[in-house]
Amino acid sequence: MTTSPIESWDEIAEWWRSEVADDPLFDEQVRPLLDELLPREVDYALDLGCGEGRLLPLLARRADVAVGVEEAPRLARWAVERGPVVRAILPRLDWVRDGTIALAVAVYVLDLLDDAGTFFVETARVVRPGGFLVVVVNHPVFTPDDAAPVVDADGEVLWRWGGYFATGVSDQPAGERTVRFHHRPLGVLLTEAAQAGWCLETLVEVPLGPGTVARHPGYRGQEQIPRILAVRWRRTDSRNPPGTPM
Ligand SMILES: C[S@@+](CC[C@H](N)C(=O)[O-])C[C@H]1O[C@@H](n2cnc3c(N)ncnc32)[C@H](O)[C@@H]1O
Repeated sequence: MTTSPIESWDEIAEWWRSEVADDPLFDEQVRPLLDELLPREVDYALDLGCGEGRLLPLLARRADVAVGVEEAPRLARWAVERGPVVRAILPRLDWVRDGTIALAVAVYVLDLLDDAGTFFVETARVVRPGGFLVVVVNHPVFTPDDAAPVVDADGEVLWRWGGYFATGVSDQPAGERTVRFHHRPLGVLLTEAAQAGWCLETLVEVPLGPGTVARHPGYRGQEQIPRILAVRWRRTDSRNPPGTPM
């Protein structure tokens, strides 16, 4: 096994495609979370880090135009079969004009970026006031380097928080390679978003669902441990942000 983390998701493109092909997590958990959090009707939407494009058809039902944004050329070529895709490297969105987008979505991408602050600033720049940012990501409880399940003497599975309070990285297995995740405590994440002009509307925390636990029996006992974080923010009007004296 090569232990250095991948530099591009193209290095694990085949593995990722086979993972998502029969992944119960998407239908069981990600889709219902998106159903709950995505606005009903918008004009322009961006799917940031769209991978092989599995979200694009779903977004196209909510948006007049849904465009994927993807760094990895191979994945981008697969995604193009499902909708328009721009090859670009996040978190910069220099190629998008200010205030032109109604909805930005990022599913399982934010903790892959080393600069979440710029992600929030850039999405807040391109999304117009009143527009939305929807993020689904590994729950920060899960992403510290040394966080892990521990089993007590009675066989109950508990969670070791590890270095939760510090930002840091952890390299997690992905097929035969590893992927680098960037851990930020929830407070850091939410504060960076607020400072960029994002107003929190809904935050949902869920554990792994029964389908995923059945597919990966190693997760048994973790059904009460937070695993997915889903958030919807609204772009405030920068001329009149919340908290401004009337
Ligand atoms: C875990 S996959 C999720 C794909 C898709 N959002 C989904 O849920 O099926 C992460 C994706 O983000 C892309 N990605 C990671 N870092 C990126 C970056 N800096 N710029 C653009 N895309 C990036 C990867 O190439 C990969 O396709």
